[in-house]
Amino acid sequence: MAIVSLWILLGCMYLILPCCKNAIEGQHFSQSGCKLSYRIADCSHFQLTSVPKDLPNDIEELVLVFNNIKRITRPSLSLYPDLKSLSLQFNGLELIESDTFQGTKGLESLSLQDNSISTDYIQASEAFRFIPSLKKLDLSRNGLNMNMVTALLRNLKSLEYLSLDNNMIMRLEDSVFAGLHELKQLSLQRNYIYEIETGTFDHLVKLKTLNLAFNSLPCIVDFSLTQLQTLNLSFNQLEWFQSMENDVEFQLELLDISHNMLLFFPLLPRLHHIHKLLLSENRMRFYADLFDAISSTVDFLIIENNSTNISSINLWEEEKITSNISTIQYLDMSHNHFTYLPDGFIEKMTSLIELKLDWNCLETFSISHLENASSLAELDLSYNKISELKINNHSQSFLGLRYFNVSRNDLQMLPRHIFSGMNGLRTLDLSHNRLKLCCSQVGAVGVHGNDCVDIRHLTALKNLYLSGCGMVLDAQCNFYGTTLTHLDLSDNHIQSLSSLQDTSRTLLFLSLRNSLPSNLSDVFSTYQNLRYLDLSENNLTNFPRSLTGLTLKFLDLRKNNLTFLPLYDRYENLLKTLNVVYLSKNPFDCCELSWLDVLRKSGSINIPDLLHVTCNFSHHFMSAQDLPLDVLHSCQWKTGGTLLYLLLTLPICVTFLVALLLVILTFKDLFLQALKRCCRRSTGY
Ligand SMILES: *[C@@H]1O[C@H](CO)[C@@H](O)[C@H](O)[C@H]1NC(C)=O
Ligand SMILES: *[C@@H]1O[C@H](CO)[C@@H](O)[C@H](O)[C@H]1NC(C)=O
Ligand SMILES: *[C@@H]1O[C@H](CO)[C@@H](O)[C@H](O)[C@H]1NC(C)=O
Ligand SMILES: *[C@@H]1O[C@H](CO)[C@@H](O)[C@H](O)[C@H]1NC(C)=O
Ligand SMILES: *[C@@H]1O[C@H](CO)[C@@H](O)[C@H](O)[C@H]1NC(C)=O
Ligand SMILES: *[C@@H]1O[C@H](CO)[C@@H](O)[C@H](O)[C@H]1NC(C)=O
Ligand SMILES: *[C@@H]1O[C@H](CO)[C@@H](O)[C@H](O)[C@H]1NC(C)=O
Ligand SMILES: *[C@@H]1O[C@H](CO)[C@@H](O)[C@H](O)[C@H]1NC(C)=O
Ligand SMILES: *[C@@H]1O[C@H](CO)[C@@H](O)[C@H](O)[C@H]1NC(C)=O
Ligand SMILES: *[C@@H]1O[C@H](CO)[C@@H](O)[C@H](O)[C@H]1NC(C)=O
Ligand SMILES: *[C@@H]1O[C@H](CO)[C@@H](O)[C@H](O)[C@H]1NC(C)=O
Ligand SMILES: *[C@@H]1O[C@H](CO)[C@@H](O)[C@H](O)[C@H]1NC(C)=O
Repeated sequence: MAIVSLWILLGCMYLILPCCKNAIEGQHFSQSGCKLSYRIADCSHFQLTSVPKDLPNDIEELVLVFNNIKRITRPSLSLYPDLKSLSLQFNGLELIESDTFQGTKGLESLSLQDNSISTDYIQASEAFRFIPSLKKLDLSRNGLNMNMVTALLRNLKSLEYLSLDNNMIMRLEDSVFAGLHELKQLSLQRNYIYEIETGTFDHLVKLKTLNLAFNSLPCIVDFSLTQLQTLNLSFNQLEWFQSMENDVEFQLELLDISHNMLLFFPLLPRLHHIHKLLLSENRMRFYADLFDAISSTVDFLIIENNSTNISSINLWEEEKITSNISTIQYLDMSHNHFTYLPDGFIEKMTSLIELKLDWNCLETFSISHLENASSLAELDLSYNKISELKINNHSQSFLGLRYFNVSRNDLQMLPRHIFSGMNGLRTLDLSHNRLKLCCSQVGAVGVHGNDCVDIRHLTALKNLYLSGCGMVLDAQCNFYGTTLTHLDLSDNHIQSLSSLQDTSRTLLFLSLRNSLPSNLSDVFSTYQNLRYLDLSENNLTNFPRSLTGLTLKFLDLRKNNLTFLPLYDRYENLLKTLNVVYLSKNPFDCCELSWLDVLRKSGSINIPDLLHVTCNFSHHFMSAQDLPLDVLHSCQWKTGGTLLYLLLTLPICVTFLVALLLVILTFKDLFLQALKRCCRRSTGY
């Protein structure tokens, strides 16, 4: 009895063991090499020409990506009746026989990207009859046109996700998607669609996401898909977007019409939920400023039901946006042709968080527009032609802004206290304008003047960009009350760095490119947190010695007038932390390059422009990395000065001594006699 149970036990263990072998990873392999785990079989990249037959019968997911299966047939799949998901991407699949899925009726997900389903789409369409519960189908990159798609989808009533990207669809007729009442997500990117028949998407009552990016649509008229939440129309040729004019509520939340040729701000549905509206890279502007009231009125002759009606319409009345845009939180209108924004346009967007207006032609901008946009956190006005930023004297409600970019405009002056209300401002980019910072003490003359802009006491400010503002910063100026971490002062005229004293301790990043006097005094010892320092293009003749005590990671010394760096000891702080240093375009002395060895030997330091580091040897410039031998020798002559002197003078000295000795020996007797004579005379007895 005991023996029997032992045998049973052993038998069970034998049965269980193969499965337990890799129980830790929950993974093992079939004979054909497929990876098996939790009812999933992964047979990718095997050069298989047919579906493997040795997999467990109860698998639910079969992955056959990157194989060579040109056709699939019923017997191959009927071994796996529980199959729910089948992936056949990248197989060159041409034929799906009409009874292929007869034994796998529970299939819910089928991925057929990058195959040639178009070759025999009729049989494939027949095959799809057996999988009426398919929810997810990917037919991208199969060379399909509209008729093929119509045929393929005919029997698939319960699809929820359908991708037809990268096919050859040019038109969409209203019958293409008929019957797909469950469809939630439809992607038609990268086809050649130029026409969509009215009503094509109307039956898709559950459709939430529609992606039509990268097609050739010329316009959208009477947009009426009230059920949609996300619509992507980017990268088409739209000149015009117009929604149905009625009071029906649209569910639309995200609308992307970027990278098109829109000439007008889109005519959005009157009632919608749009919070993200992407309109960058178009040709939009507002036109009312081009016309007076009379020339912008147009008479329309309307002929309907045998009666004619003439009505006058002000063309640009649409600028008084009729849609309720109060829900928009993110609006991107960058890279367009806007010269101005009509009154009330921004004021209506009371939920705005981020507004991008960069790369337009705006000439003025009124900060007061934003008075009621209390949630606005980011405003980008860079690359415009703004010469005036208007501000309401009493405006104190503009407090929420965290990011403000007005770089590359024509600003000559700013209201002096424009930033004083912006207590939350973290990032301010004023670069490439002609601006001055207020340098005098608070309360001095001209407090209300606009000749300078005051950034003192902006306690939240961390990142400040003042590059190319033509500023002259002297000892009087200060950044009092700020704790900046990132400061770009490149392309200015800094006469004294003491102006930075107030913020020097907190700075992590500092750019002083092309802005320092060449006789800069050494002032960097207080910059204890500095990690990135750009000193390039300054004609500096001396390397500031205090830099060796800092813990920099990045240092740029290009285009200066340095002849050597005072780096002797690789245990200096700087050499322990430095990761990247740029050195090229300096007249280093070829005979004083020991510092370069110190840098190169310290392991972790990368000199990206090492190939271009040159040195000067009697007016000749050569690569500092591999000096010619004769230069090295000449340098030794120069540097080994004292030793050479000794070596040269030694033979002369020896000759001289020998000569002296000979003279003494020759006249030895004479000397002795003279000596004796002297002695005798002196002993006077
Ligand atoms: C719209 O589609 C394009 C192209 O695929 C994509 O780059 C973009 O991110 C999409 N827009 C949104 C809002 O997802
Ligand atoms: C034109 O006639 C149709 C029916 O023939 C009617 O529904 C419509 O209201 C008429 N329109 C006008 C403006 O009278
Ligand atoms: C338009 O007028 C013609 C005759 O002038 C008439 O035959 C036709 O029925 C009218 N159509 C409508 C819609 O009223
Ligand atoms: C003519 O058009 C105007 C505005 O569209 C409308 O108010 C008016 O009723 C129309 N008149 C007729 C006769 O259709
Ligand atoms: C716009 O919509 C918001 C919420 O959807 C609503 O509170 C507000 O009253 C509407 N404004 C107008 C002018 O209809
Ligand atoms: C801001 O809102 C107040 C009250 O709703 C209104 O009186 C004021 O005109 C608004 N300001 C702007 C610039 O729209
Ligand atoms: C400000 O805008 C310019 C141009 O669009 C951009 O290059 C720059 O990085 C922006 N500044 C910041 C701090 O993001
Ligand atoms: C703002 O204040 C200054 C001086 O206090 C005054 O000259 C100017 O007219 C005021 N501007 C506005 C728009 O109120
Ligand atoms: C640098 O040179 C300028 C004149 O070129 C001089 O006014 C200034 O005092 C010098 N600064 C230092 C620190 O020597
Ligand atoms: C450096 O010297 C060159 C030539 O003398 C001059 O053009 C350039 O303005 C100088 N740069 C600085 C930052 O002083
Ligand atoms: C570089 O330094 C030398 C002196 O070391 C000076 O004669 C020369 O004018 C400087 N060059 C520039 C561009 O400042
Ligand atoms: C190169 O070195 C020579 C001395 O060897 C010096 O006279 C000359 O000014 C140096 N050239 C430059 C550009 O520094």
